[in-house]
Amino acid sequence: MTTDRTPPPDAPVAVAVREVRKRYGDRQAVDGLSLDVRRGEFFGLLGPNGAGKTTFIEIVEGLRQADSGTVEVLGHSPWPRNTALLPRIGVQTQASAFFVRQTAREHLVTVAGLYRKDAAAADRSLALVALTEQRDVLVENLSGGQRQRLAIASALVHDPELIFLDEPTAALDPQARRDLWQVLRALKGEGRTIVYTTHHLDEAEALCDRVAILVGGRIAALDSPHRLITSAGARTRLLVPEGRIGLDEAAALDGVDRVGEQGGSLVLETSVPGKVLQALDALTGLDGVITRTATLEDVYLELTGHAAAGGPSPAGGGSPAEGTPAHTLESRA
Ligand SMILES: Nc1ncnc2c1ncn2[C@@H]1O[C@H](COP(=O)(O)OP(=O)(O)O)[C@@H](O)[C@H]1O
Ligand SMILES: [Mg+2]
Repeated sequence: MTTDRTPPPDAPVAVAVREVRKRYGDRQAVDGLSLDVRRGEFFGLLGPNGAGKTTFIEIVEGLRQADSGTVEVLGHSPWPRNTALLPRIGVQTQASAFFVRQTAREHLVTVAGLYRKDAAAADRSLALVALTEQRDVLVENLSGGQRQRLAIASALVHDPELIFLDEPTAALDPQARRDLWQVLRALKGEGRTIVYTTHHLDEAEALCDRVAILVGGRIAALDSPHRLITSAGARTRLLVPEGRIGLDEAAALDGVDRVGEQGGSLVLETSVPGKVLQALDALTGLDGVITRTATLEDVYLELTGHAAAGGPSPAGGGSPAEGTPAHTLESRA
């Protein structure tokens, strides 16, 4: 499927950032960030609230000036505001502005006009985010999710080759979120470059070619979700129905790193699941044993010690940094 094609490492660069810093008062929001986004890439920026995602993406968009460092977007510096760049990039900011007294369609036609695009472009954009039915609804009467989609449509109306989205799926219900995934995948399938932020780690894992995890204005990790998961040594969890083996017995099994209890199961964490499953098989059989492989969320939690705000909520509510008891670890469906 073309939509899932990852650009090769030597693909031309769409965004090149070197040593970018931004301080607000005594707060170092962005602290020496460097990264490249390749053309055709779907690039995710992850990190807890306050990590600097919005500041960083706004610097790249040309909406904010960095204190130091360099940014190149499609070969141009975005600051000071570069009018040659504007038709080529689409921007949805975290707090989008609307012409609230207009209908959804009027709003989009207005935005399209700013780019010298016609009403047909507005209609295409409305259809793309499934807002055609709401075209005649006043912007102020749209639901939160519908406004979010209108903001995305506004970023796409002029057919940009590079698209920046700051938490586009934050206000969306699960169905709308999945629908937007299809839109984003299709845009990528057309060869566009997408840079976006999200708190949904399952989503980043499903959509992104590469992600950067930001912590305190710095990059804590940058790679494909798959490589992050496999190289972080994130552990597999084996859920054994309670009563099969004792906690101490489980902890003593060769290859088990941690044991906890959760929702009627013993949770065995291991980096060698095959070995532990074999041992379990010999002891109790594997009936009802559930294997949960590591996900991007595990990597994220290890790096940040934070649950993602918009992601699945942790059952134990804990921030499972190294050394926290396993029973505070979250479960994932
Ligand atoms: N305009 C601003 N003035 C002062 N501080 C700001 C401003 N914007 C962001 N910050 C601070 O900078 C840090 C990074 O914020 P932000 O870039 O919004 O992070 P994120 O998008 O990852 O939540 C936070 O501590 C935030 O409070
Ligand atoms: Mg933000």
